Amino acid sequence: MTVQKINEAVAYIKKQYSISPEAGIVLGSGLGSFTAEIKIEKELPYSEIPHFPVSTVEGHSGKLIFGELSGKKVVAMAGRFHYYEGYTPEEVVFPIRVMKYLGIKTLLISNAAGGMNINFKVGDLMIINDHVSLFAPNPLIGKNIAEFGPRFPDMSEPYKKDLIHKARIIAAAENIDVREGIYCGVTGPTFETRAEYKLLNIIGGDAVGMSTVQEVIAAVHMGLPVFAMSVITDIGIRPEDNIITHEEVLQAAKDAEPKLTYIFKELIAQL
Ligand code: HPA
Repeated sequence: MTVQKINEAVAYIKKQYSISPEAGIVLGSGLGSFTAEIKIEKELPYSEIPHFPVSTVEGHSGKLIFGELSGKKVVAMAGRFHYYEGYTPEEVVFPIRVMKYLGIKTLLISNAAGGMNINFKVGDLMIINDHVSLFAPNPLIGKNIAEFGPRFPDMSEPYKKDLIHKARIIAAAENIDVREGIYCGVTGPTFETRAEYKLLNIIGGDAVGMSTVQEVIAAVHMGLPVFAMSVITDIGIRPEDNIITHEEVLQAAKDAEPKLTYIFKELIAQL
């Protein structure tokens, strides 16, 4: 049963590192060097933690990092689990539940995403203010675990407005340009066809990616406030846009990373 697995994972982690982190951070593709900012106190490879899935994608190293950032205790996931890797939705959100049970009060998520908004360019940062979940099964399907949250969770504010507000002020004060928009969560692993980018744009999407949505649903279910940001690593909407490779996605994410890091750090300082 999931609760028991989570308790076992948490018990193992607590034995290695007993301090409760205040914030949890999930790092997206190409965004892992953020962890260099953390004054590391303990690293735990996923493979050591009971019931933890193990990450397989290039650009993800696969460990929990505990330490201090901006004067706060944090836990960061270096490497996350994607539905397209073959993990069940429950496995995808397992670490989110573990971090909640470790005591985090806020979850910060980053990801690499394709842009559909015609005004976006590669390297832009986008604060996610809402999402559309497409195709990937909801991680809450199945018997509801009341200990986590209600059967029918409210999703009217999955991304906390006050955190978005704070992030906008932080970015403006540092002259960092940030976009804001709707993230469409798809399964991948194919990048979208031209027709799909167009469709996602028509239904109101500004960016599209293969992560985040299931994690956010699990977090909201447990009443955990979320802030999430995309790095726009490619633009798919115009016929002349280049074809996309994973290498280009990683490079674009890496280039934009310092700006994202700054915003996350300042936001954590203000938690
Ligand atoms: N589509 C889906 N996921 C992505 C993309 C994209 O264009 N870029 C980075 N992750």
